[in-house]
Amino acid sequence: MGFISSIDNELLSKVATNNGHGENSAYFDGWKAYEIDPFHPTQNSDGVIQMGLAENQLCFDLIQEWVVKNPKASICTAEGSQDFKDIAIYQDYHGLPEFRSAVARFMGKVRGDRITFEPERIVMSGGATGAHELLAFCLADPGEAFLVPTPYYPGFDRDLRWRTGVQLFPVVCESSNNFKVTKEALEAAYQKAQESNITVKGLLLNNPSNPLGTILDRETLKDTVRFINEKNIHLVCDEIYAATIFNKPDFISISEVIMEEDVECDRDLIHIVYSLSKDLGFPGFRVGIIYSYNDVVTNCARKMSSFGLVSTQTQFLISNMLSDENFVTKFIGESSERLQKRHGMFTRGLAQVGINTLKSNAGLFIWMDLRRLLKELTFEAELELWRIIINEVKLNVSPGCSFHCSEPGWFRVCFANMDDETMRIALRRINNFVIQRKGIEGGVKKLQCRRSKLEISLSFRKLDDFMNSPHSPMSSPLVQART
Ligand SMILES: Cc1ncc(COP(=O)(O)O)c(C=O)c1O
Repeated sequence: MGFISSIDNELLSKVATNNGHGENSAYFDGWKAYEIDPFHPTQNSDGVIQMGLAENQLCFDLIQEWVVKNPKASICTAEGSQDFKDIAIYQDYHGLPEFRSAVARFMGKVRGDRITFEPERIVMSGGATGAHELLAFCLADPGEAFLVPTPYYPGFDRDLRWRTGVQLFPVVCESSNNFKVTKEALEAAYQKAQESNITVKGLLLNNPSNPLGTILDRETLKDTVRFINEKNIHLVCDEIYAATIFNKPDFISISEVIMEEDVECDRDLIHIVYSLSKDLGFPGFRVGIIYSYNDVVTNCARKMSSFGLVSTQTQFLISNMLSDENFVTKFIGESSERLQKRHGMFTRGLAQVGINTLKSNAGLFIWMDLRRLLKELTFEAELELWRIIINEVKLNVSPGCSFHCSEPGWFRVCFANMDDETMRIALRRINNFVIQRKGIEGGVKKLQCRRSKLEISLSFRKLDDFMNSPHSPMSSPLVQART
């Protein structure tokens, strides 16, 4: 690659050359830094630890066990090979009926079985990524906009905007009320868009939120339903983290709220985006779902879904897996427990060195407050700190500016895409970094005082070994040069 010059670019389309994919951001740069120098416990123990990827890898043992016990679900096994031909030939783009039924039941189950989803409304797409773009194509024309509360998942810029020409308009949320989506903030954003002559076609909510790890309460959801009905605009709810709740309160889906008697709602305006990338931890399978309450949208989306269907082999495997009720119940419960444990270990480890995090009960990440470590409260200072964390501490965390956060100093750190030992190393790197930032002498004393209080199952012998090891950031020439 690399042989297309800028002159050649003139021969390409605007879409191909307009940078709308959003990959020129710190969020994706962090991934690149990881790819160049990936951490490995034995082969590259000084490498970058990937904490910028919202992946749920904590329950693969359960999945593997199920796959071994159910060889017929995989058509490339001796037991499953008789289904190979039927699965390999063309299927219609509605998807396998058993797949749609199993996904609809699963969507109900992860929402506490308080609502049922109709299999006829399940439309497939290539992950939630494809689902968002497809919905944007159905609901808005180029130049029109969706409101979206900040901070928000950076991929939305690519998914909703790049190829569709649709815009995203920020609803500014602030740390003073834990980034709550208020009526006032929604109204202010709507007015501002109108003053800029931008036609608002919808509101995009992500519940539970990436990057905050928080969920929307019932009143907020009701307020947003009232808001979009009053303005007669669409509401797209991305609920792809629905089953990652690990503490109270329970998750409330938009599909519950619109059924409530005291909420008047035109259901034609309501659309849900779902995927199995986070709740089951299968981003590689690219199973995305559009569930619209609007018949016209459902029909159009189904036709458009031909561009991003889920392979029938995957549908077949997933429909078998999700039809195993006992497995699904066990998986959801176990996944939530493991996430809770990991989240607890991580937040306590950060608290030991005085790093605050936004209180959260869902998701695969923590929204970390590093404002005290900034030289000044600016986005330049945030990026400066981020570069040190990537290049010297060797952790790929993502800066708040890449999530369009309105305040500098917040960072997202993912905690479920690594094993326990890697997490401990990451925590130690953070601890050492903060100590070193505060001054090595004072910091080490504090660490020693706190040793007895450490709740993380960190072996102190290991910590000492690590501090004295050549891999410790304390021994890193970069760190030493800076002290
Ligand atoms: C809020 C949100 N929506 C959509 C996506 C994309 O998901 P998928 O892998 O299913 O395309 C992500 C991925 O991180 C996400 O966090």
